Parts: sequence; C-alpha cells; structure tokens
Amino acid sequence: MEKQRQWVDEAWRKITEKINRTSKKIGANFPHASVHGSYELAEPHWWTAGFWPGQLWLVYRDTKDESLKTIAEQCEEKLDKVITDYYRLDHDMGFMWTLTSIARYKLLGKEDSKRRALLVANLLMGRFNVNGHFIRAWNPWFEDDDNRGYAIIDCAMNLPLLFWATEETEDPRFKAVAMKHADTILEHFIEADGSVHHIVHFDPETGERIEFVGGQGYAPNSAWSRGTAWAIYGLTLAYEHTGQDRYLQAAKKVAHFFISNLPEDFVPHWDFRIPEEVTPYRDSSAGAIAAPGLLLLAEKVPPTEAPIYKKAGENILHSLYEHYGDWENPNEDGLILEGTSHYPEQKYLKNPLIYGDYFFVEGVARLKGYTELFW
Ligand code: GLY
Repeated sequence: MEKQRQWVDEAWRKITEKINRTSKKIGANFPHASVHGSYELAEPHWWTAGFWPGQLWLVYRDTKDESLKTIAEQCEEKLDKVITDYYRLDHDMGFMWTLTSIARYKLLGKEDSKRRALLVANLLMGRFNVNGHFIRAWNPWFEDDDNRGYAIIDCAMNLPLLFWATEETEDPRFKAVAMKHADTILEHFIEADGSVHHIVHFDPETGERIEFVGGQGYAPNSAWSRGTAWAIYGLTLAYEHTGQDRYLQAAKKVAHFFISNLPEDFVPHWDFRIPEEVTPYRDSSAGAIAAPGLLLLAEKVPPTEAPIYKKAGENILHSLYEHYGDWENPNEDGLILEGTSHYPEQKYLKNPLIYGDYFFVEGVARLKGYTELFW
C-alpha cells in the first residue's frame, strides 16, 4: 500500500509538472496525436476535443491553478460554434461536452455550462433510431456514404451525458434513450466470450441487424482492444447511473476477456485477435481507458470480487507510468507513448494520443483519492 502511494504521488507530481509546461505551448486548442514530439491539433468538431480541457480540469481540481482553468474555459467556448454545425456534430458530443461543460458545472456550478450540456444532451438524444433502438454514430463521411444504420461501441461512453441530463432535470427521456442503447450493446455488440464488436450495422428502417463491420479493429469478428475498453468503462457507468445489474454483469464479462488477454506488461495490443503476420502494436490508450473503468468496477462488485478488477486497473496504470510514460523529455508533448489510433487506416500507430493521456490522468487521480466522476 505504502509502495503504491509512493508511485501514485510521484506520477501525479510528474503529470502536473508536464501539463503545466505543455499548457503554455498547446493553449486553448484541441490536440489529438503527438507526432515527433508535438501534438498535432484537430478541428474543434473532432471527437477528441474534450480530452485536453478534461485533463486541465483534472489537474485544476487538485492544484486550483487558474491558468489551467482559463484555458479549459476557452476550449469550452470554442466548442460553441460546433453546436450549430449540423453536418459535423455526431454522437461523440458525449465525450466532448462531458469533459468541458459538465466538468466545469460539477466543479464550479456554472449555469452557462449546465445549459450548454443540456442543449447538447437534447441533440444526442435526437440521434436515437427508434426502429433499431440505437444512437446513430456518424454522419456521412463522403458523398453517398450511407451510415444511417451504424452504431459503434465507443458510444457507451457518450451515454453518461444522457444519464446526467435526467439526473439534472428529472426528465426521464434522456435516461430511457441511454438505457435502450445500452441494451442494444448487450444484445448485439458483446459476444459470449466477452469480446466486443466495433461497429454493428442495422437496417435504419426495420431495425434488423445486418452485419458486423471491422471498423478500427482488424476484422468484423476480431476484438479491437480500445473498443473493449470503451465497453468496460461505459457499461460500468451505465450500472453506476441506473443500478441495473445486467450492465454490471456485462461489464464484468468484458473485463474478464480484456484482463485475460493482456500481455505480461499489462498494456494491450491494438486488437486481441489478429493473425501472426499483423504487427501487434500496443495501444496504450486502450489500457489507459480500461484502467479507471476497472477501478470503478471494483467498487461496484461485492468485496470478494473486487481484487481482480482493482489489481488489473492498478497494474495497467503502473505499467503505463513506468514503461510508457514520457516525463523528463522536453521535446515530447504527450504523456503516454505507444498509442494506436487506427490500424486499418494506418493512422498514428506508435504515438501519444490525447485520450490515452486523459484516461491515464483520470486513473491516477482516482488512485490518489479523487473519485468524483465527470461521467
Ligand atoms: N472513438 C474513436 C476511437 O476510439 O478511436
């Protein structure tokens, strides 16, 4: 215990030092992947826009450093123009506004942030396909792209925006939609062995399932590790917000699959089911996302069951800190090396990714005792 306290304190100190330093370079922008040591910036509509301000809020919560707060607030304001950008705004508004507006509302009680998040929750709810009981993921990526019937596992982490909206307003519609989507995850995304599909394609008119699509995983029936991590954390949060045992049981099943497929250093490969000839790059971000999910799961199960999830979460975070963390190098913006963003498109295969950094910081903050959730 003493030993753990030591590395957690040390890691937190290094996190805060590095974020203080990089905040001066990155400012109120939206970093995505670090290439040759510098974070490339993305447009504010890109799904990753919440993770940098989210990190700033996590550190601000502890240090009360006003300069970090100011940058996070500026990022949130910049997102306003995305709210009216109908063609670009997709289901990832959960990620984007949970870590900006909801974080600020929960930490500072700001009404304008609450209003923004409620508006966006309405927009997310509007993507619900009543025929198939799923939240539509994306808008067309190119002319004639028909993805009206696409739902993706990542959306598990967008549901807390809807749960929060019901908790704030006592209007049950948001939560009802989130639960319908969560039930669709249970029915169509999770296999008996606990592996998870990235994309499920439904007929948008009849709601019938048409096919699984590989997406960012190796193949339709492989096991993309980051998708598995989204499922662990998202379903645990669905349980947290609803108390429905079926979400807890599903989270446990997926967690067992994830944990039993971890390599020796506890940091997953980008897909758990790839042929030998495919490069088994690590995806540190998958580990970073799963870790706080596993730590939360450990708190939800009976005490006799908790150690497996707690230990796994701690082992992942410790390994990321020791073996993948970049702490002293002034020429690297990212905190955690070796993320894989999109193997099938060969995009960012061994790079720090802003969501890997965010969830690592959230996990370490949790081990430090900051257990209140933005989600
Ligand atoms: N939500 C997209 C990803 O995990 O890459």
